[in-house]
Amino acid sequence: MQRSIIIGRPTITFDTIDSTNDYAISLVSNSNPNEGTVIWAQYQSKGRGQIGSNWSADPGVSLLMSVILKPRFLMAYQQFTLNILVSLAVRSALASYDIDTHIKWPNDIYIDRKKICGILIQNVLQGKGIKNAILGIGLNVNQDHFDLSLPNPTSMRMVSGTVFDIADVKSTVCIHLQEYYHRLMEDGFELLKKEYVELLYLKDEVSEYVIDEEVVKGKILGITDIGKLQLEMDGEVRKLNFRELKYLHK
Ligand code: BTN
Repeated sequence: MQRSIIIGRPTITFDTIDSTNDYAISLVSNSNPNEGTVIWAQYQSKGRGQIGSNWSADPGVSLLMSVILKPRFLMAYQQFTLNILVSLAVRSALASYDIDTHIKWPNDIYIDRKKICGILIQNVLQGKGIKNAILGIGLNVNQDHFDLSLPNPTSMRMVSGTVFDIADVKSTVCIHLQEYYHRLMEDGFELLKKEYVELLYLKDEVSEYVIDEEVVKGKILGITDIGKLQLEMDGEVRKLNFRELKYLHK
């Protein structure tokens, strides 16, 4: 097994960039960067969020980074493993600052009912395998106010009252990512999945969701191996894709 991947070596830094994910994608398309390369920016003019949304943050207050991995031991149908990997790594990096979070399926990091980190994973597939993976992380670090259009954001500073060194937070995230990546390669998927499921936001609680434009009550039980959410409704377990379910209470 490869024990030698260093996440963050090299780290390519920018004051301003359109999107660290876009940069990482062009890098893997046009060259052969080291596995573990990190793209880190203070500000993004065209930050990307999930399902085609934007991700915006004021300059210098947020951790905006993308990590390039080459997880060639994973098949395309195992892509969700990377969501698990990044969610656990960010969660444990935050725990090292005494910030206790949950994972809102599929990969938002939440404190109570507020979002502190968004993750955007973009994979380059080759045949049935994964050639390159771009792990984009937007972690709210020193913000003390947010655009009113955002439903429920928070930051490390808002929950702890402390101002953090963003370079230090970046290094901590890299260390935890590296640890989990090696754990995945050595111990396999099941242990990571178990840890992820235990940390799921609203797990085992009856809550309200929107499915097919209808409000329903359900209880999150876990996920399938390909990352579908298992939701118990009226004694039956539904397996849902990301686009099939909305949380009514963010
Ligand atoms: C989400 O919508 O929750 C995902 C947000 C992901 C944002 C990060 S910031 C760094 C990286 N570059 C991007 O353009 N997006 C991701």
